[in-house]
Amino acid sequence: MYYSEELIEEVRSRNDIVDVISGYVRLQKKGSSYFGLCPFHNEKSPSFSVSRQKQMYYCFGCGAGGNVFTFLMEYENFSFVEAVKFLADRAGIELPEMEYSKEAKEKADLKSTILEMNKLAAKYFYVQLKSERGSQAYSYLKNRELSDETITAFGLGFSNKYSDDLYKYLREKGYSEDLIRQAGLINTDERQGVYDKFWNRVMFPIMDVNNRVIGFGGRVMGDGKPKYLNSPETVVFDKSRNLYGLNRARTSRKPYFLLCEGYMDVISLHQSGFTNAVASLGTALTAGHAALIKRYVQEVYLTYDSDEAGTRAALRAVPILREAGISAKVVRMDPYKDPDEFIKNLGAEEYEKRIHAARNGFMFSLEMLEKQYDMNSPEGKTDFFREVSRRLLEFEDELERNNYIEAVATAYRVSRESLEKMVAKMAVNVGMARPVARPKRAEGSEKKQKEDGILTSQKALLTWMIDDDRLFDQISQYISPGDFTESLYRTVAELLYEQRKQGALNPAKILNHFTEEEDHREAASLFNTRIKELRTKEEREQALQETILRVKSYSIEHQTMNLDPTDMRGLQHLMEEKRKLENLKNLNITIQ
Ligand code: UTP
Ligand code: MN
Repeated sequence: MYYSEELIEEVRSRNDIVDVISGYVRLQKKGSSYFGLCPFHNEKSPSFSVSRQKQMYYCFGCGAGGNVFTFLMEYENFSFVEAVKFLADRAGIELPEMEYSKEAKEKADLKSTILEMNKLAAKYFYVQLKSERGSQAYSYLKNRELSDETITAFGLGFSNKYSDDLYKYLREKGYSEDLIRQAGLINTDERQGVYDKFWNRVMFPIMDVNNRVIGFGGRVMGDGKPKYLNSPETVVFDKSRNLYGLNRARTSRKPYFLLCEGYMDVISLHQSGFTNAVASLGTALTAGHAALIKRYVQEVYLTYDSDEAGTRAALRAVPILREAGISAKVVRMDPYKDPDEFIKNLGAEEYEKRIHAARNGFMFSLEMLEKQYDMNSPEGKTDFFREVSRRLLEFEDELERNNYIEAVATAYRVSRESLEKMVAKMAVNVGMARPVARPKRAEGSEKKQKEDGILTSQKALLTWMIDDDRLFDQISQYISPGDFTESLYRTVAELLYEQRKQGALNPAKILNHFTEEEDHREAASLFNTRIKELRTKEEREQALQETILRVKSYSIEHQTMNLDPTDMRGLQHLMEEKRKLENLKNLNITIQ
């Protein structure tokens, strides 16, 4: 770590979490905590809580949580070090010059330098658009019915006809050729030497959720090719982890996103009041996008182009979203090509109607499937239903599958019983003993489920221990840090046990230890894993006992598996642990 632990703890303790978060979220005091609308997901009633006493925040709706550093890392997309610097500055604490490793310094510097350069470039393009030289581009956008307000809100711009203008401008500002190249803003070839990547195009800056310019898309004004030129991936531009328009859509407070294909669709939708529209960046939707979306909403309306390519893309997106736990619906825009055209022709109200009429993603996929069969002949129809049955099998959850069987039966006016039979038969045909799931996958996922379950138990146990010193004392009689099988959890446990030995627990301080973003988030989640639906004291006590037992038995099982058979002392220790486990079954924990 760059700074000493004492210094980081000083920075943390001199920035009261309630004061800091109040700068971003309106908080109201209720009992011993403060509540507000969660900035990390859409909600109408406040489930985001901040505790002054614990110096931690937690959202009961989406599970976000952590200390004051975590908050800034999540909200401002700061790295840990950036959060420390920001808060040191806020509290007037002077930080010593960092003793970076050369590599780390270069990497951190490169990121922020490229972001700076991108911002300058975006401003440059914007000024060009508004200048005399940009008049053609400006009328192009006006012809496409964009208002000045929209142009400014999305920071649209123009890269002029001189093919090294931006390059010269950035060189003047002191950036090296190498850096400009790493930002993806120039190309080089033998004939022309260095030249701007974008010229004579309308520019669409691409921003991340925190409004930082991470790349550009540039459109030709007319029919030239390629229609759009995009920045290459750089250290700040990862196409599979960003969505166009997300910086604005995240605060739209609608429970779903409109997912479209193009920059222009997003802009046009926002201009018409659909401020929850986002698009992927000229690439197909990935699991990374789905995970990103899941942080904000549980539902997505796909509003892709109505041509064949758009339909295919929508069909591919549905299962990717479903995997991430997002339900997908498909909005039809025929006879128009895309949302932009649709709205221009029929207006926002008609579009709103199409949203209401959106169809479930699976049912939509069947409608598309129909086209491949001759639905007027008995054979064609039967073949169609065979394929439908095969697809219905892909729903592993029985209840969900039955719901779809019912929906299909109703939509296609066939009897539910015969469809059910066909699905069952199909299951046998494709080699499933029961129409549940492919056996091979089931085995793997069972093991994984068990592991996930254990990890959740370990997390929940840590949350309990952190919540209350007295519970900590009771639990620590039975559980030691070594019982946490995941190394990050074990580290947190070790730190907690150490703190307790010295006095009271200080959970907010423990998070200081985790300076890598991934680790920090993971560690923060250990403080907020609550088993739901525990209302009475008895229920809580029982759940706690069961959790202790589960964690302990798994730990013993784990140690047994990894034991070296010649390790006699280890063996003895395990025997002892097993005996203790037997006693644990009558354990009696009381929650005050
Ligand atoms: P579209 O061709 O549908 O573009 O491509 P659009 O956004 O609707 O633009 P207009 O209305 O014709 O001006 C959808 C998206 O695919 C990517 C871009 O991200 C675009 O927004 N794309 C398309 C490219 O990256 N390169 C291309 O040449 C074309
Ligand atoms: Mn379009």
